[in-house]
This record gives sequence, C-alpha cells and structure tokens, in this order.
Amino acid sequence: MSSGSGKKRRVLCVFGTRPEAIKMALLSKALRAHPDFEAEVCVTAQHRSMLDQVLAIFDVKPRFDLDLMKENQGLSDITARIATGMTTVLREFRPDWLLVQGDTTTAFVAALAAFYEKVSVGHVEAGLRTGFKYSPWPEEMNRQLVGRLADLHLPPTERAKKALLAEGIAESSVHVTGNTVVDALLWVSKKLDDDHAARQELEGRFSFLDPKRRLILITGHRRESFGKPFEDMCNAFVDIVRARPEAEIVYPVHLNPNVQAPVKAILAAAPEELRGRIHLIDPIEYLPFVYLMKRCHFIVTDSGGVQEEAPSLAKPCLVTRNDTERPEAVEAGTAKLIGTQRERIVTESLRLLDDEAHYRSMSRAHNPYGDGKANDRIVRILGSL
Ligand code: UD1
Ligand code: UDP
Repeated sequence: MSSGSGKKRRVLCVFGTRPEAIKMALLSKALRAHPDFEAEVCVTAQHRSMLDQVLAIFDVKPRFDLDLMKENQGLSDITARIATGMTTVLREFRPDWLLVQGDTTTAFVAALAAFYEKVSVGHVEAGLRTGFKYSPWPEEMNRQLVGRLADLHLPPTERAKKALLAEGIAESSVHVTGNTVVDALLWVSKKLDDDHAARQELEGRFSFLDPKRRLILITGHRRESFGKPFEDMCNAFVDIVRARPEAEIVYPVHLNPNVQAPVKAILAAAPEELRGRIHLIDPIEYLPFVYLMKRCHFIVTDSGGVQEEAPSLAKPCLVTRNDTERPEAVEAGTAKLIGTQRERIVTESLRLLDDEAHYRSMSRAHNPYGDGKANDRIVRILGSL
C-alpha cells in the first residue's frame, strides 16, 4: 500500500442519522472493498428507524452499534452518550482514521472522542458555513467544532474549501471531493431506472397520489424552527391546498416529536374537503423518496440533503430557512430561500403553480454540489496519506 508499511490502514466510519448514513454508506463500502484498508462502520443510532432504513437499502452491516436513541432526546443528553460510547469503540478498534460526516451531534462528539483518544479525524462534507451560530442550530457550531478537531478536511466544493482556509486550516490538509450525496443519489436513481418491477411497486405504493394533480413534496425538521415557525409552515401548506384545487401535497413527516405535534395539530386536522389532498406519511426509505422527488412538481424543505439533491433532478426547491450553507443552487436560481413566514410560503408556492415561465426558470438540471465521484476521490486521498 501507499504508506509502504505493508500494514492495512484501519478506518472507522461513524454515523448516526439518516442523512449521514445516506452520505457515508457507499463510502464505507468502497473502503471495505479496498485491499489497502481494514474498514468498519460504527453507528451511534442517534436515529434508529430512519437510520435502519438506509442501512437496509445500501446493505451496510455496522460492526459497532451504540443504539443510543431515546424519545425526544436532548442535545447534552446525546452528547454525553455518544462521547462515552465512542470512547469504548475507539479503544477497542483503535483506528488510524475516524471518518465523520457533516454537522450532526454524532459527527461533532465522535470527532471529540477521537481527539481525546489521539485518533486522527477525517471530516467528510467539511467547510459548510452560514456564519450564524444559531442557524442552523446546533449544526453550524457542530461543523465548526469538527473543523477545529479534524486532521483531514474533505469539502464538497471550492467555496467550502475557501471557508476552511479563511479559518486558518492548513491547505495541505484540505481536498475538494464533491458531495457524496450525489454518489448516493445517482446510485439510487440508476436502481430506479433499471428496475422496472421496483418502479411498478412504487407506483402501486403511491397510487393514492392523483397523476392529474400537481404534487408538492414537503419535508422539515430543523430545531431552530420548532414552535411557531413550524405552526406557520403547516398553516401555509393548508392555505396552498385550499387556494389551488390542482395542488396535492405529500409529506413524509420526520419522527421528531417536535415536528409530529404541529403536523398532527394542523395538517392532520385540516378541513375534511382538503384532507384528501394532504398526504401525511411516515419517513420513507431512500429509494421511494427519490421516486417522489422525481415525480413531484416542486419541493418545499429545510433539509440540507434535499437541497443538494433537488438541482440534479431539475426540481425547484423552496427552502424554509432564513439562510443556507448551500447557497450554490440559490445563486443559480433553482432554489429559493423563503423563510418560515406563512404568507411568503404561500405566495412563493402559488407562483410556482401559476407562473409557467417562473417554474421553468427554476427547474433546470445542474449539480453544483458534486459529480458522483466523491467516494472514489476520498478513498484515493486516504490511500495517499
Ligand atoms: C438530527 C440532527 C440534524 C439532522 C437531522 C436529520 C443533531 C442535533 N441533529 O436531528 O443535524 O439534520 O437529524 O434528520 O445532530 N426519532 C425517532 N426515530 C428516528 C429518528 C428520530 O423516533 O429514527 C425521534 C426521537 O424521538 C428522537 C428525536 O426524533 O429523540 C430527535 O432525534 P435527533 O437525532 O436528536 O434530532 P433530529 O431533529 O432528528
Ligand atoms: N430522505 C429520505 N426519506 C424521507 C425524507 C428524506 O430518504 O422520508 C432523504 C433525502 O433524500 C436526503 C436525506 O434524507 O438524502 C435528508 O435527510 P434529513 O432531511 O433528515 O437531514 P438533513 O439533510 O437536513 O441533515
């Protein structure tokens, strides 16, 4: 191998939530398949069922599973449990590298535990920044802190690299790779295109959707929007369905109880004549979710991953946040930051439904976040260290 030592490098990939799993699954498999590495996966299971859905579709079998999710868990609470659990795993496996992804509490605390154990940390999806400590919360601070702890920084874009260099990170430790979410999206898209039976199965599963209507796909889960902003968003979705009989929404509702409560109180309690066009469903596996992204007219979301996926699929994306660490699609005009205010969400959605020229201007396919080769690059970079 490239280190010349003849010894396989031990790499531990750790992740805990749905988006980290989507973005790390294929990378962990590529490392496991490579002869230069002894690679294993540790899941904190900060999410349980939403994580397991991803492990199943990518056929990832973690060697370590901290299984630490609790109902309505608090940040300090998971911080403490991840730190303790990761320390035990790091002492047992003694990796040369711990790879963390993104900005969750799993990523931050696993990196911290690795630092305490003097294990080198590689940060996948490094350098995303809004510059606002509380937005998104706690993710902006989580990723900044991982940036301080990491020895290897793998930003998806040149912009993210610049953000790291501006913080004084040594350029020699920074390698632009593209975002691994694009690798995952292309992998699942191909599976959908190639597998006629799977497509048919999905058509059956979503036969409650009316092909003559315009489908709006909704997701939302940001902690900084809990409470009134979430209620405003839910009220806006009811307003949209009320205002346009051709509109239909499908909303896989995140399992966080702070999301479930307003959705149940407002959307599930919408007037009977509107309920038939408001489809509230459980979080779905990645394959059907990609199917819905392809099938919908446009997307309303606060999700980081969905913002990165929508432009590849040429779907206009209304982002229910006040700022974003993924400004590339906003600059290109295919995503729009619309905040969480009820009237604004309604106005922007109706404009996409009513104004064909505006719709077309937002539905160009492009991908500023990656080219589907990020995993190969990361494997090569790790092999060269
Ligand atoms: C977490 C991440 C966030 C990421 C998001 C992706 C932190 C602090 N937050 O937010 O950065 O964008 O995941 O979705 O790292 N739950 C279940 N089953 C599941 C998943 C969640 O029941 O499979 C419920 C539990 O009650 C859990 C709660 O959701 O306590 C919150 O989960 P948590 O991971 O703490 O926060 P998220 O809001 O999901
Ligand atoms: N996703 C999914 N099923 C769903 C909703 C989302 O597979 O029901 C995928 C989506 O395609 C994206 C990721 O989950 O890749 C985003 O996860 P989430 O919005 O929970 O987290 P974020 O990206 O905001 O951290």
